[in-house]
Formats: sequence, C-alpha cells, structure tokens
Amino acid sequence: MSENLIPPNDSPWNTVWTNARLATMVGDGEPFGLIEDAAIAVTGRTIAWVGKTADLPAEGLAECSNRYDCGGRLVTPGLIDCHTHIVYGGHRAREFEQRLHGASYEEISNAGGGIVSTVRDTRSASFDRLYAQSLPRLQTMMDEGVTTIEIKSGYGLTVDDEIKMLKVAKALHASNPVEITTTFLGAHSIPPEFSGNSDGYIDLVCDEMIPAVAEQKLADAVDAFCETIAFSPQQVARVFDAAADYNLPIKLHAEQLSDLKGAVMAARRGALSVDHIEYLHADDVAVVAENGTAAVLLPGAYYCLRETQLPPIDALRKHRVPIAVASDSNPGSSPVGSLLLMLNMACTLFRLTPEEALAGVTRNAALALGMDQETGTVEVGKDADLVAWNVGEPAELSYRIGSNPSEKVLYKGAVR
Ligand code: NIG
Ligand code: FE
Repeated sequence: MSENLIPPNDSPWNTVWTNARLATMVGDGEPFGLIEDAAIAVTGRTIAWVGKTADLPAEGLAECSNRYDCGGRLVTPGLIDCHTHIVYGGHRAREFEQRLHGASYEEISNAGGGIVSTVRDTRSASFDRLYAQSLPRLQTMMDEGVTTIEIKSGYGLTVDDEIKMLKVAKALHASNPVEITTTFLGAHSIPPEFSGNSDGYIDLVCDEMIPAVAEQKLADAVDAFCETIAFSPQQVARVFDAAADYNLPIKLHAEQLSDLKGAVMAARRGALSVDHIEYLHADDVAVVAENGTAAVLLPGAYYCLRETQLPPIDALRKHRVPIAVASDSNPGSSPVGSLLLMLNMACTLFRLTPEEALAGVTRNAALALGMDQETGTVEVGKDADLVAWNVGEPAELSYRIGSNPSEKVLYKGAVR
C-alpha cells in the first residue's frame, strides 16, 4: 500500500462508522457475530472500538472528522480470497471448448495442454505484460470488497520465471490498496523439459527455487499440487522439507481428482490449509482437525470441471475444521473473477449455510493464510478492513448472483 493512503494519526479516532448492521464474524455467539445498530471506530490502521452506536463515547465521536452513517447497511470484515492464481499469461478458452467436445481436464493435461500451456504463455510474457494482464483481475476482486488476496506462482516453473511471477504479485501489492500474500507453487506441474523426470524437477524446486525465493523474501508460504497428473505425496514431502528449512508455512492442493492421502501428510506437517479436497475421505478429516489445518473449498473449480464428488462437508463440520472458501481464480479450472459468486456456489453446490460461506471468505480465510491475528473479523486490535454493503441481510451476499452491492470499503483504515 502506498504511504499516502495511510490516514494521519492526529486524532484518537480517524474514522467512525455508525448505524451499521455489523456482521463481526466473531464465532460462537450470535449468527454472523451480528451487532445491530453498531458503530466501529478506527485509529490509524486499526479497529479501536466496536459496539452499539448508542454506547459510543461522545468525546471520541466529537473529535473525529471522518464519520460515515451506514444507514442500517450491512457491514462485514473485508473479504479475503485465500487461494488464487491471478498472475498468468494468456488464457485457456480453447480448452474450455475442447472440454465441451468431450475431452477431460486430465486428458488435456496429458496431451500437453492444461497448466503447461499457461506455462508457455507465462514464460514468454515480459514482467510488464504479466503485470498489465493481472492488474484488471485484481481490480475486479477489489471492486467486490476483497481487502486481502493470496496469489500463487506456479506457471513459470523455472527459477527465473517463478521469481518473475512472484515479483509481479509483489508489484501489484506495492501499487494497490489491498493486502497481497504470495505463495510459491513451483511444484504445480512437471515442465516439458523435465518430462519423465519429475524427481529431477523436484530437485530443482528444493535445491534452487525455494532457497532463491526465500532469500529474496518473495513468498509467505509454499504450496504444491499433489495429484496423479502432478506430484506424489513423497515428492511433495520433499518440497515441504525444503520449505521447513526456511521456516516457510505450507499448504497443499490435495485430493482434487483422487485420494492420494496428500491432505493427511500435509496436516501432519502442520499445513495452514488443504485445498480442493473433494476426494478427501471422511475418515481422514480427524487428522486435518487435530493439526489445526483449515479446509479451503473451491466451488469454482468444482463447477467448471463438472465434478460430482462433494468434499466431506459433514465430517469437516463434525470435527470443527475451519472451512474457508476461495475463488481458485486461474485460467484453466476456475476462470473466476467474483468471490461473491463463490459464496453462492458454496451454498448451492456444497450446501454451506450463508453464515458458513461468509465465514469462509473472512474469519476462516484469514486462518488459512495464518493471518487471523490481523484480519478476518471485526474486533478491536485487528486491521480496519471493512465493507459496507447495499444490503441489510447477511444472507443476501450469498443469495444474489451477478450483483455487486459493495458500497464502501475501508482498507487498513483508509477509504478505498
Ligand atoms: O487449483 N489444481 C491445480 N491447479 C489449479 C489449476 C490450474 C490450471 O488448470 O491452470 C487449481 O485448480
Ligand atoms: Fe489452485
């Protein structure tokens, strides 16, 4: 975020929002952590006071010049998209057509298309071109109230091209009022030059890419794609060992197309999240729960691939695994630009409740990124990331399709 967006800290409260229907998303109390007729006061970048408008200390309000009367609007935490691949070159509309002519995602991948075709387009794109192609994708997300977004590498698959992708994500962060966390996903696919030698590619990921990315502080976490068309749990374990050498948290694309037990392996190693997990066996959910790992559901990929195997939602609920929801925005399996649409799909396709879906893009998405101390709920001490919506009911955010009721966004205390 550029410095001029930070409000001067010359009064105890820089901003006060009043008369909100506030979904704090603080768990275990009212549904949605709802406070009626609520007020929120902000000092600098941080939430300083939350409560009933009627209880707002009068002296603080009198001294504050930035006041906003929410007029009964719903206010939520800023939305968090905790799993995206929005930095990439080209697109895969032709594969969309091929799938409609009968080819499967795996068949296209095995025939040299899929992720590898985006790798070609990403490698050939300059830094500036990648930035220019990715920026509108970020802006579309921000328009819908996203204040934190995770961006993965994984379409470069050489040391230099992975670094190029992560630097584009860092540049997007430097020039836009949104929190961006970066995840190194070198173990996303076997690049053509390593065809038949996936172990050799894992050597490159572990011995060169992770050290370079860590030394340049380009990634907040390390991810991998554990699947028959990508990497085995044993190979991913090597990637996770290398991540541990640099104290980088881990996450995993696991059990998207088959049950390789990647999620169990990742959870046992303390992964922040396991993502997709349609084929995660209900009996394995206890292991995910015991290790405090979040489950990230990606209804856009489920929908686009016309998957029919549902993630083990009831087992996740029973074991109280934090369930996050994300866009998985990528050119192949989830060309999605709307996190609000994911709320609807999480409810319609996965039968999450609107409260679970909203928690999935706020509180639990923060957990999936290891950012729950900073954001994800409206609580004193957290970042002042807030959205006022032109709706009154929290369920309206997941009920409507194709409308964007975002009215006003506060990002770390500054109006966006
Ligand atoms: O999360 N599953 C692997 N990776 C992406 C797909 C990327 C692509 O098809 O380009 C995903 O769905
Ligand atoms: Fe993904």
